[in-house]
Amino acid sequence: MMTHLIVVGAQWGDEGKAKVVDQLAEFADMVIRSQGGSNAGHTVKFKGETFKFHHLPSGLLYEDKTCIIGTGVVLAPDFLQEELDSIHAKGYSTQNLKISDRCHLTFPYHIAQDKQQETLRSTCTNGTKIGTTGKGIGPTYMDKVGRMGIRVADLFEPETVLKEQLASILTQKELQQLFTLEELYTLAMRYKTILAPYACDTLAILQNALKAGKQLLFEGAQGTLLDIDFGTYPYVTSSNATAGGACTGTGVGPSKIDATLGVMKAYLTRVGEGPFPTELSDTVIGERICEIGVEYGTTTGRKRRVGWFDAVIARFGVEVNGLDGIALTKLDVLDSFETIDVCTGYVHIETGQHYDRLPTSLTLLSQLKPIYETHAGWLTDTTDCKTFQALPANCQAYVKRLEQLMDCPVWMVSVGPDREQTFMRRHPFSLETV
Ligand code: GDP
Ligand code: IMO
Ligand code: MG
Repeated sequence: MMTHLIVVGAQWGDEGKAKVVDQLAEFADMVIRSQGGSNAGHTVKFKGETFKFHHLPSGLLYEDKTCIIGTGVVLAPDFLQEELDSIHAKGYSTQNLKISDRCHLTFPYHIAQDKQQETLRSTCTNGTKIGTTGKGIGPTYMDKVGRMGIRVADLFEPETVLKEQLASILTQKELQQLFTLEELYTLAMRYKTILAPYACDTLAILQNALKAGKQLLFEGAQGTLLDIDFGTYPYVTSSNATAGGACTGTGVGPSKIDATLGVMKAYLTRVGEGPFPTELSDTVIGERICEIGVEYGTTTGRKRRVGWFDAVIARFGVEVNGLDGIALTKLDVLDSFETIDVCTGYVHIETGQHYDRLPTSLTLLSQLKPIYETHAGWLTDTTDCKTFQALPANCQAYVKRLEQLMDCPVWMVSVGPDREQTFMRRHPFSLETV
């Protein structure tokens, strides 16, 4: 039996990670978030209700699972409170939630800085803003790395550590015109009230769980191509959304991890700016995929950009995450298409040179166009399919071709948003063929 599993987004986010994690949580003792923060928008559909998680791990609907917000997550306490309130309003408890006291906090000046940077970028760099979620994520991580962040633990030493750090921040960031020390302190004390029931040393909980042989499920946020190191920089988020982030963001070492599952859509989407070789936005097919797939952002409501499945991107995801298997989602969205294209590589528009790897340079990437192979569609409703064999033959052939192009097996297939609309071919925990 495999015991510790990482689930990561292997494209540009919104792959359906939450649905997969919610389903796999049944087999785990703990569900742990390790990076990102309120920029994430994770949708779980359960018993006819829709839940949208931002900071909270997607296993929270199970009463018997410990859910951990790990150290690498950045927290916006007021926003977290709204999330908690919405869960409570639906009659669910959050008593199994634990929040790392090492997490860094987002303050209003981070959100203001995020928005200001976006405005400045669009005026001075050819109008190329990042298209952030506006949640202050980049500036919070900047302060963490710059050693001027406030951690949850600091709230519990208010008269010493907190006040000293706040005073230092006001000076270092030249914020005296905007905030007084007293204002920030009062805000911090509100954050303390919100976090106090949950804050603790989650590292100790996780290390004890490892010793006790508990099963751990790590839930990634964002996706591989948004990773700060390996994504399409600078059009990325500010954390490690790749599998390594699950270790650095929780304090569970890589040697403890048994398997890594990448979540991918059967096509591709992206929110925000940045390159997207197979983009179909503003085409008839693109509009159809967007409408059928309901491709609107969970956090910001922005319309997602859509495109065909890109095997270059997928192979990249398999490599940098060391994926053992794939959960392929939203296959049903392609049910009504007569033909379906898949990008197998790129060709340079001027030199004709072929590329089968994602280049580092975005200038070069902008000069590449996809090479497509066209698949016959299956024109059959797959939303009730419960096994791989039940899928139409052309649909099976599509999945098998993706496996071949990615050099990675598809372990799980999702054919609708509900918990029941998923089947396994190989169980990511037991590794048994299903
Ligand atoms: P995440 O950020 O990776 O957790 O994904 P999001 O929740 O932001 O976006 C995925 C969306 O697709 C959500 O609205 C899900 O309810 C929905 N979804 C997930 N899997 C499927 C599927 O197999 N088919 C369809 N039609 N919708 C799905
Ligand atoms: P989940 O976890 C899709 C994108 C933003 C923007 C870039 C940087 O739901 O998959 P940020 O606010 O993080 O500084 O924005 O990253 N982005 C996401 N796109 N899904 C997400 O999360 C995202 N979180 C951030 O649109 O392009
Ligand atoms: Mg999302």
